[in-house]
Amino acid sequence: MPVGAEYAISCPKCGYKVKLGGSGIPGKYYSLGYDEERFWSVYRDNCAQQKAMVGSFVAKNPQWKYGLYIWSTQRGTGKTRLSCSILTSIKLKHEISIRFISVPDYLYKLRNSYRENTVDATSMVRELMDVGLLCLDDLGAEKRSEWTDQELYYLIDSRYRKGLKTIITSNNDITGLSEDSRLSDRIREICIEMHMPEQCIRTQQAFQQQHEFLQSMGL
Ligand SMILES: Nc1ncnc2c1ncn2[C@@H]1O[C@H](COP(=O)(O)OP(=O)(O)OP(=O)(O)O)[C@@H](O)[C@H]1O
Ligand SMILES: [Mg+2]
Repeated sequence: MPVGAEYAISCPKCGYKVKLGGSGIPGKYYSLGYDEERFWSVYRDNCAQQKAMVGSFVAKNPQWKYGLYIWSTQRGTGKTRLSCSILTSIKLKHEISIRFISVPDYLYKLRNSYRENTVDATSMVRELMDVGLLCLDDLGAEKRSEWTDQELYYLIDSRYRKGLKTIITSNNDITGLSEDSRLSDRIREICIEMHMPEQCIRTQQAFQQQHEFLQSMGL
């Protein structure tokens, strides 16, 4: 099992799935599985295509030879939440190891461990290269350089060569990525693009919560 990856294994006594290790999924989304009806009910658009795509990716993941590239130009549409719930469901359903990391966080950790000359960099890269299903969140939010493009290519390409799938989220479609075309071409080859409805659920929820608060204050 890759260091720090998260697995679900069946307990030999009770048969229930048991979690091991740390996936990197943010606490807010921890153990949030993919509930199709609930997740898509908040959008105004008809999300039949996205529903079908994610449903199949979760249910038949071992048969899928592509990863997912989930994007919207608007912020707060649910890309991170959706990716985390996909990871959790796939871990439980298919006993596939999972790992979540944001691209800026990955590059920050990598740069620091190279700078401090620790072994962390190698083990972190190896872990992300080997995990069954990886989510790289927020591609395009990093401060780009030739070095960042190279490191991302190295990670994504080596997973591809091992036949491992990657979920990538971004605020750009693949064509709109400012990263090197070698990287975007490889991503296009290995991921199916899925456009999220351009509806900011973050703002919607903030208004709703404020409204409920004011109501509770009798205002
Ligand atoms: N389908 C949904 N149902 C309920 N809550 C949702 C849904 N989608 C998003 N949210 C909530 O909206 C907020 C923003 O979601 P999230 O962080 O996943 O958006 P994002 O698209 O990743 O944003 P960004 O573009 O800034 O990375 C979070 O609080 C999340 O819990
Ligand atoms: Mg996000």
